[in-house]
Amino acid sequence: MRALLLQRALTRDERNSILHGIFPELSKSKPADLIGSGGYVPGVPRLGIPPLQETDASLGVANPREVRKGDGATALPSSLSMAASFDPQIAYQGGAMIGSEARKKGFDVMLAGGVDLARDPRCGRTFEYAGEDPLLAGTLVGESIRGIQDQRIISTVKHFAINDQETGRRVLSADIDEGALRESDLLAFEIAIERGHPGSVMCAYNRINGVYSCADRDLLDRTLKQDWRYPGWVMSDWGAVPDPTAAALAGMDQESGEELDQLMFKRTIADSIAQGQIPDKRLDDMARRILREMFAIGVMDDPPTKTPIDYVADTKVAERAEVAGIVLLKNDRGVLSLGAGTRTIAVIGGHADVGVLSGGGSSQVIPIGGAAFKAPLPKGSPEWTGAIIFDPSSPMKAIEAAAPKALVSYDPGTDPSAAAALARKSDVAIVFATQWLSEEYDAANLSLPDGQDKLIEAVAAANPRTVVVLETGGPVLMPWLARVGAVLEAWYPGSGGGEAIAEILAGHENPSGRLPVTFPQSEGQLPRPVLPGSDQPKPAYAGGEKPFDVRYSEGSDVGYRWFAAKMLKPLFPFGYGLSYTRFDHKNLSVRGGSAIDAEFDVTNVGASPGADVVQLYADVPTSDGHTSHRLIGWRKVELKPGETRHLSIKAEPRLLANFDAKADRWKILGGALRLHLSSNADDDGLVATAAMAAETFNP
Ligand code: BGC
Repeated sequence: MRALLLQRALTRDERNSILHGIFPELSKSKPADLIGSGGYVPGVPRLGIPPLQETDASLGVANPREVRKGDGATALPSSLSMAASFDPQIAYQGGAMIGSEARKKGFDVMLAGGVDLARDPRCGRTFEYAGEDPLLAGTLVGESIRGIQDQRIISTVKHFAINDQETGRRVLSADIDEGALRESDLLAFEIAIERGHPGSVMCAYNRINGVYSCADRDLLDRTLKQDWRYPGWVMSDWGAVPDPTAAALAGMDQESGEELDQLMFKRTIADSIAQGQIPDKRLDDMARRILREMFAIGVMDDPPTKTPIDYVADTKVAERAEVAGIVLLKNDRGVLSLGAGTRTIAVIGGHADVGVLSGGGSSQVIPIGGAAFKAPLPKGSPEWTGAIIFDPSSPMKAIEAAAPKALVSYDPGTDPSAAAALARKSDVAIVFATQWLSEEYDAANLSLPDGQDKLIEAVAAANPRTVVVLETGGPVLMPWLARVGAVLEAWYPGSGGGEAIAEILAGHENPSGRLPVTFPQSEGQLPRPVLPGSDQPKPAYAGGEKPFDVRYSEGSDVGYRWFAAKMLKPLFPFGYGLSYTRFDHKNLSVRGGSAIDAEFDVTNVGASPGADVVQLYADVPTSDGHTSHRLIGWRKVELKPGETRHLSIKAEPRLLANFDAKADRWKILGGALRLHLSSNADDDGLVATAAMAAETFNP
């Protein structure tokens, strides 16, 4: 109501002025109150409407202009690490922390909430997203958005939709059947929106079935605004609006970074408005949606003011998140945790003497006090990302602190034989292996770059007690796996990452992360063995690429579902992760009918306290006659040694259904449904069958 009254009080010019924002880096106009970051939309002081000061992104305040003045922010570990925690509370707390920093720096919009599915493990932004499963990704991203918005900061959810690779993102068409899209990428958005109520949705660069996301009426108007009854506003990605009139008529409510659209497409929404191409009724609705969210989230009544930030406390939040997200992939012969008897430790490679790796692009958080180390960008990566940045959280120093009796030595890993010589004379060798990825920079393949496989082989040959710590954007191949003692996936570890890694290595914390993406044995196992568009020349940032289509013929069988459907054995399955203790699942009972309820017991049968992630999968019959293996619920639970808990899981009904695009309804096919209570997607676990009633329901 207040939004409607306010919208009616606006003059036409005032109304139109809030429908487009500038990209401060390129803008000639520098409003007096501009903080300067990702974007800015002027306010209307006459009516007490504050400006929208927009900052990237999901891992923390990424604010290049402030950074030039020497300001930084706290970085969470990558969103993939958050997803690996399988812990909604970790996601919420991370969101609340970065939201509070944004607010204390004077921003009121965070361009956070990346939830595109990891359809391709080579995607350069996989680290900004929450993995390959719609339920997991939607739930955790929704919680992170809730955390941000509880700080009275508007969050986005992005990039709507199916921006699942960076190569050719501005020119590719993601081609997929509508039902499959609703069951996969769009379901992740739907769940994230239900849980997080983001004020805004950011439409993507790519086309979907030939139509630009920001001008896709089926996507924006029919699905988002009608089917899902989304009350907020759709903002465009920066330079994603080739035709602003078509976009506004299709449901886009605000053009972001208008200089980029001007640069690339020679027109902006301001031109469309000036030429009378958008009816007043639509323009009013656009403005009302923006104002509605500014009221709903608290920006209008309580705009942000600059206040000091407790970076020490915030770094602890980032560290806890990373502890929860690290995944122990292998641990033979009790190599980990490092026992009290460990006298000499070789730390090798990955700049682990000074810091931990972060991912590049608009989500790049510049560390407080500057980078620990800056490496030059690899060939083919976008220059605007600046440099490869290592956060100043040294794993080596943290290992020294966590194992005070051990002598810790460092070798940079640039010469495998020197590294092997150090490993040979050490009790344990810990190799830090890195894979840098970025917005606009997909991995060419899944191998570790820069000869790191050779380094690991050499170290492992010198010392079988070799531990590999991976700091990667997503899955990588491990040709050396059989020869190393232990492997930890630490993702991009964030501001407290070095400490988190050391706590896990030393056994002060028990690893409890589980993979949110499948690690394949080779690219040949993927639906598209070669990354589409990777064979094309890469012209400059501002366009010139040749359009191409990516056919997502796996439909909604993304990631582990594809592996199950094709009966492929991955290197490590989705949901997988070890602990220093062991868990036992027993007494599964399920109730079917119109919903699925599962009850079971979980016991810590090992010697140390730890957390298990108990997963419930269903083999869902699909309308085309195959079955789709789907995660339908999970519980993460902390247990003391010997402790048993009786738990239940209620399945998410949309995961038991197919989306019938013609009828615009979810459809559960009745009959016997096979369920698995297990520890990962490739594990049969405890099997039960439930009788399902046939049912259809509205979105
Ligand atoms: C990215 C968005 C980001 C925006 C503003 C775009 O290039 O795709 O994720 O929020 O820039 O920096």
